[in-house]
Amino acid sequence: MATMPLQNRPCGGRYGDIVQAIGNTPLVELKRLSPKPGVRIWAKMESHNPTGSVKDRVARSLIEDAEEKGLIRPGHTILEPTSGNTGISLAMICSRKGYPLKVVMPDNVTPERTQLLKMYGAEIIYSPGDQGSNGAVAMADEIAQDTDTYYMPYQYGNPANPLAHYNGTAPEILEELDEITAFVAGLGTGGTLMGNGRRFKEELGESCMIVAAEPLQGEPVQGLRSLDDGFIPPIIDISLLDRKIFVSNHDAIVWTRKLLSEEGIFAGVSSGAIARVAVRIANEIDEGNIVFVVCDDGWKYLSSGLYTLPIDEIENMDSTIWW
Ligand SMILES: Cc1ncc(COP(=O)(O)O)c(C=O)c1O
Repeated sequence: MATMPLQNRPCGGRYGDIVQAIGNTPLVELKRLSPKPGVRIWAKMESHNPTGSVKDRVARSLIEDAEEKGLIRPGHTILEPTSGNTGISLAMICSRKGYPLKVVMPDNVTPERTQLLKMYGAEIIYSPGDQGSNGAVAMADEIAQDTDTYYMPYQYGNPANPLAHYNGTAPEILEELDEITAFVAGLGTGGTLMGNGRRFKEELGESCMIVAAEPLQGEPVQGLRSLDDGFIPPIIDISLLDRKIFVSNHDAIVWTRKLLSEEGIFAGVSSGAIARVAVRIANEIDEGNIVFVVCDDGWKYLSSGLYTLPIDEIENMDSTIWW
């Protein structure tokens, strides 16, 4: 395969405000992770968004779609179940646009998430941690019955979530690469996989493999879900996925550390899980581009100690905490 010249666009552009500055994230080649010279692994750095996660794109899409459809009425509070990142992104956007926000979140997420949400002025309702994100969805559903008070964008069922990727993330990647052998992302709401997957299949055909990184059942990885847990988000069309590969909590942490030590990428734990799957696919092919998503940066996970823990002690980490 011919080597492609690197396309450097040193200025990230000029924008009217921080909400407009969402997206246009860098695509970075990770040479040390590639097992073969002909296989190029690329990280789409969604951690470069204003609040540090891919969910800035989704939150903007959810709110602007509701605005266009006139769904947010005067006096409405925006309400959303979230394991953290969507809440933080919504909190930033709602504070910019002047909407009150309540998020329903499991009570065992890292304290940085609570601080960030409060920082942007959101109100938090905690759901039982042992029920994970499904518990948060159930609680938010009940509260949202009061439709005079609340508008719930509901990222798990709202087409504006995958559309943020179909119209944003995927075209940005296609601007840089003419060929993609595999696109790898984590499975949370499914928005990243569905939106990018649909666009890549349309533009590149069936030869572009769409691969989901899924946590093992009972081994929570912050931001990801096991489809075996009994809830399949309505936006997910399983037939769009070519492969679904399980990753253990242990491997997710080990690969989060590898991203840091081998490539200097300070990412959250779901990105470690996704990188692990990307490298596994890289081992199966002889040449081509593999793109994976770095969903968020590592700042929100610092209190877990996972970046400094000796690697041989990872086995003993408390995996009931949501990394
Ligand atoms: C850290 C992190 N990784 C991955 C995902 C999964 O992305 P998606 O919801 O698009 O499937 C999420 C979603 O919340 C997340 O917060």
